[in-house]
Amino acid sequence: MANTVTISPEALQAQRDICRQIADYWQVRRREPLAWVDTYGCQQNENDSERIRGMLVECGYKIAPTEEDADVIVINTCAVREHANQRVFGNIGALVHGYRRHPGQIIALCGCMAGQKEVVERLRNSFHHVRLVFTSHELWRFPELLQRTLLSGKRVFATEPSDGSIAEGLPVLRSSGLKGWLSIMYGCNNFCSYCIVPYVRGRERSRQPADILAEAREMIAAGYRDITLLGQNVNSYGKDLDCGVDFADLLAQLAELDGDFLLRFMTSHPKDASKKLFDTMARYPKIAKVIHLPFQAGNDRVLKEMNRRYTAAQYLELVDYARSVMPDIVLTSDVIVGFPGETDEEFEDTLRLIERVRFDALFTFIYSPREGTPAAAMPDPATREQKQRNFDRLVAAQNRISDERHREYVGKTIRCLIDGVDEQDQSLLTARTDGNRLVRLPGEAALVGQFRQIRITASGTWSLMGELAE
Ligand code: SAH
Ligand code: SF4
Ligand code: F3S
Repeated sequence: MANTVTISPEALQAQRDICRQIADYWQVRRREPLAWVDTYGCQQNENDSERIRGMLVECGYKIAPTEEDADVIVINTCAVREHANQRVFGNIGALVHGYRRHPGQIIALCGCMAGQKEVVERLRNSFHHVRLVFTSHELWRFPELLQRTLLSGKRVFATEPSDGSIAEGLPVLRSSGLKGWLSIMYGCNNFCSYCIVPYVRGRERSRQPADILAEAREMIAAGYRDITLLGQNVNSYGKDLDCGVDFADLLAQLAELDGDFLLRFMTSHPKDASKKLFDTMARYPKIAKVIHLPFQAGNDRVLKEMNRRYTAAQYLELVDYARSVMPDIVLTSDVIVGFPGETDEEFEDTLRLIERVRFDALFTFIYSPREGTPAAAMPDPATREQKQRNFDRLVAAQNRISDERHREYVGKTIRCLIDGVDEQDQSLLTARTDGNRLVRLPGEAALVGQFRQIRITASGTWSLMGELAE
């Protein structure tokens, strides 16, 4: 294996021993302590929070639904845009009142913001009630860090820069019994010029195929029906392993497992998405016919400045190939509006690209400068108003396209996973198509967890209406 550091089973056993010591600590005090975990950001963070909850439960904590009276509050943060950071600072500021009422409460901040030097300095100097700060690289030794904070009465900072590691066998408390995340790799090596992720998540490192297959088997046996494989760039899976298994191979091995389940994955980088990947998706019924393939910009000069390493033409070629082998594939994407130096004419190329592809859904962002990334130092003459205007045009165009695409579903019968009862209207169930489109339908709660054929009866911009076809 290349340079990937794997945490030894002995070191992980030591963490489990510490969990037991923390549980004993609370038992002699005759208290069942409460913990609350708040998550910002992407699916990777959701999955990390499930691990944190798993470890907290091993330490004897009960997971509380709110921060009220929690003995431990863990805030798992995202740094991808400035807005995310500001929300977190606002929320931890507000926690000071509860902290004053609850002596001994531990407020911990972890995740991607803990990897930003300037954030750590600000926490050190101005947020004294935040008593534990650790990066995602230190997640595996959270029990040790928690114990040190609990016993020493001192603030603990585990924020040294690191390329990251892999830890197998951490406990996990998944939030749903039906749909689950499965991380196949961590970190990112792409250094897109606007993006903070490679700085806070470390280098790309893949888990061993055998470990991933074992976790998938456990999930399937536990009743999971919808499994999403996670990585910042799943298409470069295995490059650091030298074991001859690439992402398409891994996907095929997983799709051959027994059981009634559906596989998805995210995120794919267009520069590494291969025809082999699309052929594999087409071949296996257990792989959902959907791909989230961020294009970020439709103009080649902007793409080059973004360090994306593909052109708009190459992107379109990939989409055309995917559709040639899977005509009904659902396509979603991410776009950034207002990258430094993007002109109004260059932005027109983004509009052209979405009209050409007709994505099912689009996640649109206004560029946010991240300290330490190359783009943050680029001249950025466009005004906020100009960027907002382009952003609004993009959103309006995509809403129209999403609406039109949703209308194409009406009258069709599609297999969906019924995944819950509608929160707004309890007489309705919610279901998801292969492509993750939301369908609402009348039905009994007993159907939750089943794959069923659903006839689509009506459509809107955000969801579809349907009825059981049998
Ligand atoms: N690894 C994934 C995406 C991770 S971040 C990928 O490569 O596709 C999710 C999305 O946030 C990105 O796709 C991008 O569209 C957006 N994003 C990242 N950095 C940003 C920034 N500085 N400003 C605005 N949007 C950003
Ligand atoms: Fe960020 Fe690019 Fe890596 Fe995605 S591929 S996480 S956008 S650097
Ligand atoms: Fe945010 Fe970190 Fe994910 S920056 S998008 S939580 S990898």
